Amino acid sequence: MVKLAPSILSADFANLETAIRGIDANGGDWVHVDVMDGLFVPNITIGIPVVKALRPVTTLPLDVHLMIDRPIRYVEQFVKAGADYLTIHIESDTLENNLAALDKIASLGCKPAIALKPGTPAEAAKPYLKKCAMILVMTVEPGFGGQKFMADMMPKLKTLRTWLDEVNPGCILEVDGGVDTKTCTLCKENGAEVLVAGSAYFGAKDKAAFVKLIQE
Ligand code: DX5
Ligand code: ZN
Repeated sequence: MVKLAPSILSADFANLETAIRGIDANGGDWVHVDVMDGLFVPNITIGIPVVKALRPVTTLPLDVHLMIDRPIRYVEQFVKAGADYLTIHIESDTLENNLAALDKIASLGCKPAIALKPGTPAEAAKPYLKKCAMILVMTVEPGFGGQKFMADMMPKLKTLRTWLDEVNPGCILEVDGGVDTKTCTLCKENGAEVLVAGSAYFGAKDKAAFVKLIQE
């Protein structure tokens, strides 16, 4: 069974508590929080105070996806705010700084993860494979919800699963972008274990049924 992490990027920002309680009530597994800085991506969303405010609202894991420049500057604050998984983009800083950021995340008791933009090949993840609890494969350009799923990312997903099985089999694969009840099948077939869905989850008439369809 795969896990579903609804992305609150598509929630009503005036009512985030309700949205998160809903994710829990509808059987969602994790809460995906998209952090954007207007620099790494052309959009600005939410930051540390919001993660902190959401932490007491749920016992579900907070899956915090940092789309920010040089994330090493902020990882400690996001962990302390309550992130359970903290994902940094490998395109957002040097290899050296990113490896140090992952070490820092792990040393603070949080699960470290890296994300790959669509244009970033699987090879770029090689130096990170052993350090990650999770790898996130983006199936849209990061920055906005509601974009079209890029099925051509599936070979990258499959390749990463093969490599991880050799060096870090416990590391999980997450897919983010354009996931719905149709595209989820391809993701599952190619090794995804956690699926993020923003617009499809929040747009579903029957959210509990949507969650079940994704998970099965
Ligand atoms: C995009 C974000 C995604 C976004 C997904 O930059 O990382 O998490 O919320 O939204 P949908 O599911 O609508 O593509
Ligand atoms: Zn995301």
